[in-house]
Amino acid sequence: MENKFIVVEGLDGSGKSTQIKMLAEALEKKGEKVYITAEPQYYETGAYIRRILSESLDKNMYLQAALFLADRLEHITHPELGIKKKLDDGYTVICDRYYYSSFAYQGTASDINWVMDINLNCPEILTPDLCIFLDVNPDTCKQRIDTSRDGAELYEKSTELMRKIRNNFIDVFNRLQEKENIKIIEANKSLEEIHRAVLEAVEEV
Ligand code: TYD
Repeated sequence: MENKFIVVEGLDGSGKSTQIKMLAEALEKKGEKVYITAEPQYYETGAYIRRILSESLDKNMYLQAALFLADRLEHITHPELGIKKKLDDGYTVICDRYYYSSFAYQGTASDINWVMDINLNCPEILTPDLCIFLDVNPDTCKQRIDTSRDGAELYEKSTELMRKIRNNFIDVFNRLQEKENIKIIEANKSLEEIHRAVLEAVEEV
């Protein structure tokens, strides 16, 4: 069970980071080398993206999709910290968000097929061994964001937008079902129950 590339996806407020931490600890206990990473990254493009998100800058959605793709390519190919390098070094890589987020989020106001094309048809883009989607009710996610954070970021403004993003995720997962290993986990449950389902999905790969 070594050396896999695992992606965890979900809406903002779906509890991805907690579950990633719990998963990494469980894998490390079993003797795995685990590398946790996330998108957007912290290179120059990532810093620009984070500014767009936190300041809710009104940027064209195709431009945003292109920026996320550029950030992803840097994330994959970086000579020291890149996903490819970490996999080559024998790590199980767990990534908080990946191209599915571009489809779901940028697909809300651009041609989702184009966003899928530029990512899926780029030879440098890796296909994950497993994508886990933590499916939490958008109302619950919005409530968590409103109570736990100072200000809502660009995509956290309304429950309606979050519903649209969830629908895009589900649509994309249906479309990719044959080609990719995608596991949708019903995650309106306790942390422990979700963790067990996540671990089960990971153990399958
Ligand atoms: P998030 O996981 O919330 O990061 P953090 O916990 O550090 O704030 O991701 C930031 C936002 O970026 C989130 O609203 C989803 C959005 N996003 C996209 O719109 N497209 C993408 O391709 C990715 C990776 C993220």
